Amino acid sequence: MGDSLCHSHRATRAVLRRRSLFTVLPFALLLPTVRVSGQSIGGPLDCRKSCVCASNIVSCSKTNLSNVPIALPKYTAVLDLSFNSITRLRAEWTPVKLSRLHTLVLSNNGLTFLSSEAFVSVTKLQYLDLSSNRLRLLDEFIFEPLEHLEVLLLYSNCISQIDRTAFSGLISLHKLYLSHNLISRFPLELVKERSRLETLRLLDVSSNRIKSLPLQELQALPAWIKNGLYFHNNSLPCSCELYDMVARWNLKELSSATDFRSSHTCVLPGQQKEKIAILDLSKVNLNCSEVKVMEEEEAYLEQFLVLDCDAKQKDTTKSWALPGNIPLPKANTTAVMRPDGSLQIGPLRAEDTGVYTCYATSDSLKETLYVTVVVFNSTMSGGLENLKTAYTTLVACLVSIVMILIYLYLTPCRCACCPDHGLEKTNPMDSLHSSTVSISQANKETGQEGVEGRGFPYRHVGFSEIKDQLEQNGRLNPIGSILLQSMD
Ligand SMILES: *[C@@H]1O[C@H](CO)[C@@H](O)[C@H](O)[C@H]1NC(C)=O
Ligand SMILES: *[C@@H]1O[C@H](CO)[C@@H](O)[C@H](O)[C@H]1NC(C)=O
Ligand SMILES: *[C@@H]1O[C@H](CO)[C@@H](O)[C@H](O)[C@H]1NC(C)=O
Ligand SMILES: *[C@@H]1O[C@H](CO)[C@@H](O)[C@H](O)[C@H]1NC(C)=O
Ligand SMILES: *[C@@H]1O[C@H](CO)[C@@H](O)[C@H](O)[C@H]1NC(C)=O
Repeated sequence: MGDSLCHSHRATRAVLRRRSLFTVLPFALLLPTVRVSGQSIGGPLDCRKSCVCASNIVSCSKTNLSNVPIALPKYTAVLDLSFNSITRLRAEWTPVKLSRLHTLVLSNNGLTFLSSEAFVSVTKLQYLDLSSNRLRLLDEFIFEPLEHLEVLLLYSNCISQIDRTAFSGLISLHKLYLSHNLISRFPLELVKERSRLETLRLLDVSSNRIKSLPLQELQALPAWIKNGLYFHNNSLPCSCELYDMVARWNLKELSSATDFRSSHTCVLPGQQKEKIAILDLSKVNLNCSEVKVMEEEEAYLEQFLVLDCDAKQKDTTKSWALPGNIPLPKANTTAVMRPDGSLQIGPLRAEDTGVYTCYATSDSLKETLYVTVVVFNSTMSGGLENLKTAYTTLVACLVSIVMILIYLYLTPCRCACCPDHGLEKTNPMDSLHSSTVSISQANKETGQEGVEGRGFPYRHVGFSEIKDQLEQNGRLNPIGSILLQSMD
């Protein structure tokens, strides 16, 4: 959609330009000043007819300008040039340095070109509106001079290429709007730890062409970034991983998910490219498993735990309450709040089990987060029993494999030696069966959970069933693949 808009407009624009060459030429001779100024540099600022100048505000909106007026007052703080026909923003668009300009509006101009030096004379900009234009690419370091920029509006352009360094240098940027473009790569570097813009708390890449998201990386981000990470209405393929993420963001009531619940769609596999709501995936098509609400931490006696207070807002004041809503005592306690707002508890006692509450308060929002802690009534060394179970299970598996290998590599030899004893083939099978069964039974006596719960698929099944079971399980362990290879 956006693409055709971008192309068709460019086409009509080209036609218009060509036509204007022929039809406007005679007029151009009559009105030489206007045409000349339209070609290269803007005419002088006219505060009486076309523009409105109110102290440090200059507004030339909807005045049919094809260039930025020259001789703007040095003290200009706000410059509105929206709804004109300024198609190129050159390096020399303002000959004077506008060192007080904090707001520049260039929306709805049909801009196709930004000089790489377009912003060197307006380094104090805080708000830059380039929305609803025809920009197609963002060059490297294009916004680098704008270290005070807080809001950058680039929505409704034709942007398909963004250089990885395009936004570098924007060390004060809070909000970046890139929706309704043709972007196909999610710009992870803007939000990922280390490379991210530290102050960025809103990134809108909705209504683009994004076909895949780095789901794991996104899930690992702190909630205050996810809260302002808008990615709905793209061409994401449906998957249970995507469902899981969106469902979690909804449960956490992150704005990016809840405000656009119905626009969070994905594309079903198949010819039709049918779009469905991501949150419906659990009910229909993909049968994704439901997502749990609670944050739960499990630990053993004498361990230490760190509970994260993953608040939706950045820079909140945090405080914690212990189970039973007891405010965190100042001194002599096993629970201590760390400088980053997380809570460290330990050495854990059985009584530390319960629901811990974090209150995150900012100017605009109060948030309450709950973390359930379950302390098992045993120490880690007590947990060695479980290890033992796992160990015996492992040994059982290895023994089984050895048996199977013996069966596979030794019996054919015997058969080759004694071709007429075909019946013997069944015997090793039987013995194999009985031995594995006895091993697993032995295991059942020592530790039920490991063997029963984990369910090693080839415990007591025939060979043809092994493959089936492995495939059903969906994960091939290396043991499994060895088995399959040797069978094939
Ligand atoms: C705007 O400018 C173009 C030429 O640049 C001219 O053809 C058109 O009539 C102008 N429109 C208005 C409303 O002044
Ligand atoms: C969704 O995206 C498509 C294509 O990018 C666009 O045409 C459409 O207007 C968008 N829908 C909404 C509701 O923004
Ligand atoms: C969904 O999965 C569950 C268990 O995984 C199964 O019992 C159920 O039959 C499945 N439903 C559909 C429609 O596939
Ligand atoms: C801290 O509490 C323990 C009991 O929980 C007590 O024995 C100890 O004296 C207390 N220490 C201080 C400094 O209050
Ligand atoms: C933990 O286990 C010990 C024995 O191992 C028992 O005496 C104690 O009551 C248990 N505590 C809880 C809270 O279950």
